[in-house]
Amino acid sequence: MTIQINFNGVLDEKAAISVFDHGFLFGDSVYEVVSTLHNRPIFLDEHLKRLRQSAAAILLKIPKDDDWFKQEIDKTLKASNNPESYTRIVVTRGTGEIDIDPITCETPNIIIYVTPVKAYPKENYENGISLALVSIKRNPREALNPGIKTGNYLNNVLAKMEARKLGANDALMLSPYGFLTESTTSNLFFVQGGRLMTPSLDCGILAGITRDIVLKIARENGILTEEGSWPAEALDNAEEIFLTGTLKRIMPVTRLDGRAVGDGRPGPITRKLSRLYEALVASLV
Ligand SMILES: Cc1ncc(COP(=O)(O)O)c(C=O)c1O
Repeated sequence: MTIQINFNGVLDEKAAISVFDHGFLFGDSVYEVVSTLHNRPIFLDEHLKRLRQSAAAILLKIPKDDDWFKQEIDKTLKASNNPESYTRIVVTRGTGEIDIDPITCETPNIIIYVTPVKAYPKENYENGISLALVSIKRNPREALNPGIKTGNYLNNVLAKMEARKLGANDALMLSPYGFLTESTTSNLFFVQGGRLMTPSLDCGILAGITRDIVLKIARENGILTEEGSWPAEALDNAEEIFLTGTLKRIMPVTRLDGRAVGDGRPGPITRKLSRLYEALVASLV
């Protein structure tokens, strides 16, 4: 099991980024995290599509095509020899002058990190995790649209630190307009009256790839779904809450602000969707 770093197409475990890279200086970069099955990437087309959408949204031209990314990811995963890997693709604005204007940056840097995957503890899935509604608000779409997956995650870093201080595993953020958005690296779902609810994209969230798949699986299996805008109080009567993300997959939330969600155990819809999601993933490779 190894960590492999692919820097602009060259495998180099000791790769280092320039201190003048605007990704480092200004968070001027985009990224994706991809998970694997049998150390092969899953949902890679979806991730590459979102990487390009994020890059386009910040007017960053990625100098390589999808075939190049697929080959390089393949090469890096093979070199790692991990049973399963965490794969992070980062594209930075590149090296330039210390100036907020990216005009001096000539070529984006592309880094593919492959590390052994660190699975979430089994008890998180069995017992659920705790969330705290934090005071930090998710960036408004009009400022730094959370729909763009940039390397500027300070909003979420601050939310995570606040949640930890409150004794919770992770944070739940509202938008500045008072609507539920998402957690620091995952999307929010809750169940009310047997219906599966999730904040709509216009609340200011990342269009999660796992979120999309979960909505599709739910609809295919007769679970009513609703995307909308809700205040925090909508969670007061939630029967179930869970988070979705590439690495977490479907993570039950059984405590919110110190009180139990539903009966305090992962609920039936959460468990059913988890089973369906795992079956889908297992069928991919
Ligand atoms: C802020 C945020 N929301 C949601 C997600 C979940 O997205 P996905 O399911 O595509 O991993 C992530 C993870 O990348 C994230 O960083």
